[in-house]
Amino acid sequence: MKARITGTGSYAPAKVLTNADLERLVATSDEWIRERTGIRERRIAGSGEACSDLAVEAGKRALDAASLPASDLDMILVATCTGDYPLPATACLVQHRLGATKAAACDIAAACCGFVYALSVADAYVKAGMRHVLVIGSEVMSAITDWTDRNTCVLFGDGAGAAVVSAVEGERGILSTHLRSDGNLNELIAVPGGGSRMPPSKKVVAEHLQCIKMKGNETFKVAVRMLEEIARETLKTNGLRVDDLDLYVPHQANVRILTGVMDRLGLPVEKVMMNLDCYGNTSAASIPLALDEAVRMGRIKEGSLVMLGAFGAGLTWSSAMIRW
Ligand code: UT7
Repeated sequence: MKARITGTGSYAPAKVLTNADLERLVATSDEWIRERTGIRERRIAGSGEACSDLAVEAGKRALDAASLPASDLDMILVATCTGDYPLPATACLVQHRLGATKAAACDIAAACCGFVYALSVADAYVKAGMRHVLVIGSEVMSAITDWTDRNTCVLFGDGAGAAVVSAVEGERGILSTHLRSDGNLNELIAVPGGGSRMPPSKKVVAEHLQCIKMKGNETFKVAVRMLEEIARETLKTNGLRVDDLDLYVPHQANVRILTGVMDRLGLPVEKVMMNLDCYGNTSAASIPLALDEAVRMGRIKEGSLVMLGAFGAGLTWSSAMIRW
């Protein structure tokens, strides 16, 4: 018995924010953003559109693809750092709106690694006897973006992606997952205000401390090393070589980070899924959004060997090997 992804889905809000739009907000240029990040545009949630709204759409599409009624779900996991509320969990709102009457529901907070962490939890629960788990990565990063900070506001976007993970006989499915963290590096990417360390106040809002702050350059360097290391570990665990891979689906943060990882691993660009030019960095949504696009484009087929790789705030980094 294996935990297998039997359906994927995704959803991105309709509103497009281009680099030209950002030129009107901060001192930046389309050229700088494209050259330093690879991003051309990103999607932004409409007013009144929250994390659970995106998650429900992506979840419905994944259930459709898996031909599974929501009432058969045993658990819903929503990976997010931009939930509708501090509580209740966004997953509970999704559970209600999908009509998943017998599903447990909770959120997973591991920032950009959230989807791979949640997939690993789903894998473990399915191995422990659950039959169907819906894993969603959903983010409204625009809600925690400081639109006066050019270091961060050009990077992020909104979106959601989902996968149904089911117990299935056979060899195809999630082969291994690998999760890491180093809290010593917690200050590289953080939202300093609005939590119990610095509760919401006029000062927090005035200084935009409820927004994401990042030491981009330092993060960049460790990200390349972490993604390379965990990819090598994942291949080794499964007795596989880089050449065996059909597709690498990494966290879509920066095209230069991905080029660095490709160079170090000797992985050709044809074997790497990239859609960050259209969506920017959507944190926990980025891998499932890319995964769903790859499936729908026919880049992932039955039997394909797919490796996921993520890193983000925490710091956390993670990977998964999947025989599709
Ligand atoms: O998923 C979460 C994980 N986070 C990430 O993956 C982010 C990782 N880091 C990155 O992607 C890159 O570090 C950035 C894209 C954030 C920045 O690129 P960089 O090549 O590391 O640039 P930098 O931070 O070293 O800044 C270079 C220059 C600076 O100017 P000076 O000091 O050289 O005069 C910045 O002020 O670029 C300037 N700069 C900008 N210029 C135009 C920073 N942001 C912008 C901007 N437009 N938006």
